[in-house]
Amino acid sequence: MSPRLVPTGSDSTGRRDRPLRITVDGEPADGIEGQTLAGVLLASGRLAWRTGPSGAGRGAFCGIGVCFDCLVTVNGDRDVRACRRRAVDGDVVRTQSRTRPPAPPAPPARPGAQAEEGE
Ligand code: FES
Repeated sequence: MSPRLVPTGSDSTGRRDRPLRITVDGEPADGIEGQTLAGVLLASGRLAWRTGPSGAGRGAFCGIGVCFDCLVTVNGDRDVRACRRRAVDGDVVRTQSRTRPPAPPAPPARPGAQAEEGE
């Protein structure tokens, strides 16, 4: 387990953890039953797991299902909010990217095109 998790022996609530394991882009990430996917991702040290249109990293922002910054693909379903989905042992999580592809090159200017526009 991650050092970010309070060990069961130190937790005053007396909880008993049932471990689970998911894969994130093929890498294993361990969590406990009841955690959201975002919780498992954060506890495994991941702060960003998606890229927005600008290429900037995104992860959990609001944590309550409002901002949609935490989207992942889970077992083939795209655009799942990681903060709203409970992790299930064996989930296959893929990170997503919304980066825009580079713009295609501009077509060559036609000779005399400026003169036509000015008419
Ligand atoms: S963190 Fe905002 S919707 Fe998931």
